[in-house]
Amino acid sequence: MPQSRFALAFALFISWPIAFVSAQTAASQAYTPAAGACPEGFSLVRMAGSSPDNQTLSASESSYLQSRKTQVLPQAWKSYLTNVQAAGVTLPDYVASILEGNSTETPTLGIATSGGGYRAAIFGAGVLNALDGRNASSVKAGIGGLLQSATYLSGLSGGSWLLTSLAQADFPIIQELAFGPASPSTSNNSWGGWLAQYNIFAPNDDPVTDAEYLTDLVDELKGKYDAGYVVTFADFWARALARHFANGTTLSNFFDESYTHGAGILWSEVANTSSFASYSIPFPIVVVDLDASNQNESEIISGDFVPLTNPIMEFNVFEMGSYDPMLSAFAQTKYLGTTNTSICITGYDQSSFVAGSSSELYNEYNLTDILNSTLGPELSLIESILPQTGVELDVASWPNPFYGVAPDTFIDSNQKNLNLVDGGEDGEVIPLQPLLVKARGVDVIVAIDATSDVNNFADGSSLIATQNRTSLYPTAYSFPPVPTSLGEFTAQNLSTRPTFFGCNTTDTNASTPLLIYLANGGPPHNGEAPLTNTSTAQISYEASEIQAMLDQVLVIATQGYPANTSETTDPEWPACLACAVVDRARSRAGVERSGVCESCFGRYCWDGSTLSAAVATGSASSRANVHFGALGGVVVTLMSVMMIMM
Ligand SMILES: *[C@@H]1O[C@H](CO)[C@@H](O)[C@H](O)[C@H]1NC(C)=O
Ligand SMILES: *[C@@H]1O[C@H](CO)[C@@H](O)[C@H](O)[C@H]1NC(C)=O
Ligand SMILES: *[C@@H]1O[C@H](CO)[C@@H](O)[C@H](O)[C@H]1NC(C)=O
Ligand SMILES: *[C@@H]1O[C@H](CO)[C@@H](O)[C@H](O)[C@H]1NC(C)=O
Ligand SMILES: *[C@@H]1O[C@H](CO)[C@@H](O)[C@H](O)[C@H]1NC(C)=O
Ligand SMILES: *[C@@H]1O[C@H](CO)[C@@H](O)[C@H](O)[C@H]1NC(C)=O
Ligand SMILES: *[C@@H]1O[C@H](CO)[C@@H](O)[C@H](O)[C@H]1NC(C)=O
Ligand SMILES: *[C@@H]1O[C@H](CO)[C@@H](O)[C@H](O)[C@H]1NC(C)=O
Ligand SMILES: *[C@@H]1O[C@H](CO)[C@@H](O)[C@H](O)[C@H]1NC(C)=O
Ligand SMILES: *[C@@H]1O[C@H](CO)[C@@H](O)[C@H](O)[C@H]1NC(C)=O
Ligand SMILES: *[C@@H]1O[C@H](CO)[C@@H](O)[C@H](O)[C@H]1NC(C)=O
Ligand SMILES: *[C@@H]1O[C@H](CO)[C@@H](O)[C@H](O)[C@H]1NC(C)=O
Repeated sequence: MPQSRFALAFALFISWPIAFVSAQTAASQAYTPAAGACPEGFSLVRMAGSSPDNQTLSASESSYLQSRKTQVLPQAWKSYLTNVQAAGVTLPDYVASILEGNSTETPTLGIATSGGGYRAAIFGAGVLNALDGRNASSVKAGIGGLLQSATYLSGLSGGSWLLTSLAQADFPIIQELAFGPASPSTSNNSWGGWLAQYNIFAPNDDPVTDAEYLTDLVDELKGKYDAGYVVTFADFWARALARHFANGTTLSNFFDESYTHGAGILWSEVANTSSFASYSIPFPIVVVDLDASNQNESEIISGDFVPLTNPIMEFNVFEMGSYDPMLSAFAQTKYLGTTNTSICITGYDQSSFVAGSSSELYNEYNLTDILNSTLGPELSLIESILPQTGVELDVASWPNPFYGVAPDTFIDSNQKNLNLVDGGEDGEVIPLQPLLVKARGVDVIVAIDATSDVNNFADGSSLIATQNRTSLYPTAYSFPPVPTSLGEFTAQNLSTRPTFFGCNTTDTNASTPLLIYLANGGPPHNGEAPLTNTSTAQISYEASEIQAMLDQVLVIATQGYPANTSETTDPEWPACLACAVVDRARSRAGVERSGVCESCFGRYCWDGSTLSAAVATGSASSRANVHFGALGGVVVTLMSVMMIMM
């Protein structure tokens, strides 16, 4: 039987426990939470209000938003407007007036970037790059500057890799995020790039080095384990992700265990980066799902793993919790791990563990069976080196700050630990929920969808799941109407061109945001061969491949939806995008839609039409093979590796 180098590495890995007699590494120490006395007046939980009348944001978030709104956004919107105007299409006066700050109404923009492993991280990065006022090509294309004007930026799974790396690295340009700075700093803890050329699980050509590497990862969990915390596969996963999505690793120190490799970089610490401290970055939010022990399995969408009725959790840099009405409670991110008001834990909220939780889909495999195959070696090793009883090893375990909270409605109120899993496991692979929270007042959302639905392109399923879920909580959430079946999405090409949903406010609640849907739904219209539908299972990329993908995403994000089918780019797209961005503010200001905005809306809005039953029922078949919106393929890869080995 052929022996792959992965297989050899894993074989060596299993026979490596000797390493554990060694002293704790720098990374192991930095990954270990610390316990200390709680600050005076500490409260464990903030009740956020379960009804739109009494819902509140944290004081820290409100203060951030207020400062950003007064000190940063006015200039950001003006710069964006300048770029739109330079594209040469005459805008109605109200668009300029709103963006120039002459109107009392201004837009509140959120951007959501989906799951889908590295593909989604790269596609999402490409769209952010296309909206980035620091990129000359994006400025020239007339859509640059919108990123700087956003209030919120949410991500899950692969999108959380993008979001956490971007925020903790101090909001660099995308070229620097993906490839590292031109002259990397020699400091121990600075940004070194995604280093995607190194495979997440098998970074070296030499199986002995890879086995050592995997063993080091388990070794790095020893401090947390010794301190008495639950340690699972998600921690192992987090330590691997930290080499790619947290400060502290460069090409030259990748295998050097004297470095901390992102251990000790905390999600709450993003608040101390200079871009956050100057309110220059959209407020970042990571979405995760909760895998609850008593969950209602009949609320799981076929092919998915988490019921739509479980609360969706978010990690922002100040708080973790859920605005879903069944919980409506938050705990401070900096003190996660804490379960009472006397002893406070810090250092639990490792940035890589937040990203690792958001992309923790290993629960999709029945652990009982898994021990025999897929992740067996790592799990067995974790079990033998770090023995724990009654611990579910295939989820991310966080001490539950909400123990005893909302006992009648919160499904995990009686659980000591929260089992967090991939944010896309309920079928909503675009992290829209935090942007629909009414107290946030988001009125326009750019939804970036790089889910793997069909052929590793997105087909709109995630929006249908969000529509289904929000309809269960009509008081808490207003979501614009989207088709009820995939057949309608496909037949109307809604994922192969930018589509606006919720254009008509008359038929909906005024607090319903307008959704600008930009999917990775196919190759660009200019005839280029597709580069952006890579498999979710691909966990290494050469720099040249990422660059080619980013370049193609720039084409996709700037092409629009030409009125004339002989054109590949819509010259009105920059104007149409601006029309959508200001539309809710326009409506609040009591101005009629006019000028180019009218024809834009005619072309870009989903018209709400439904198709014949025959077309609409085309949905079921394509849903069957869609899952792994997030990262499932990785496990499949490991599984085939292990099968070769056995
Ligand atoms: C908010 O209102 C709901 C419904 O009236 C009530 O049950 C809840 O206790 C209130 N929460 C807070 C924090 O005021
Ligand atoms: C906005 O106000 C400024 C200053 O009063 C003025 O110069 C500009 O023309 C106004 N813009 C629009 C679109 O009304
Ligand atoms: C990460 O490194 C960058 C510089 O490369 C720095 O600006 C940023 O503050 C660092 N982030 C953290 C959380 O230490
Ligand atoms: C890097 O920093 C950590 C503490 O942040 C320290 O323990 C470690 O020794 C440093 N490593 C090097 C190579 O400087
Ligand atoms: C941020 O920096 C301040 C001052 O340097 C420090 O007191 C605080 O603990 C830091 N916060 C975090 C979350 O690291
Ligand atoms: C579980 O979900 C099903 C389907 O929606 C529903 O009929 C049932 O009442 C739910 N069960 C519980 C215990 O909530
Ligand atoms: C508070 O939490 C700490 C750390 O988890 C624990 O050691 C301590 O026993 C707890 N105290 C109480 C009163 O529950
Ligand atoms: C997991 O596998 C075991 C053994 O095959 C089986 O008994 C159990 O029902 C499975 N659990 C789930 C949730 O499929
Ligand atoms: C693992 O596989 C062996 C051999 O096929 C079998 O005897 C055993 O029951 C399996 N264990 C579990 C936990 O499924
Ligand atoms: C949405 O709900 C409809 C109606 O209950 C159901 O047929 C469909 O399968 C659901 N789809 C998703 C993706 O949730
Ligand atoms: C702008 O984006 C394009 C497309 O990816 C890229 O080739 C170019 O280097 C970027 N420019 C800057 C200044 O980041
Ligand atoms: C929205 O309004 C336009 C006319 O302004 C109409 O053509 C279109 O059908 C409406 N769409 C929906 C979804 O109601």
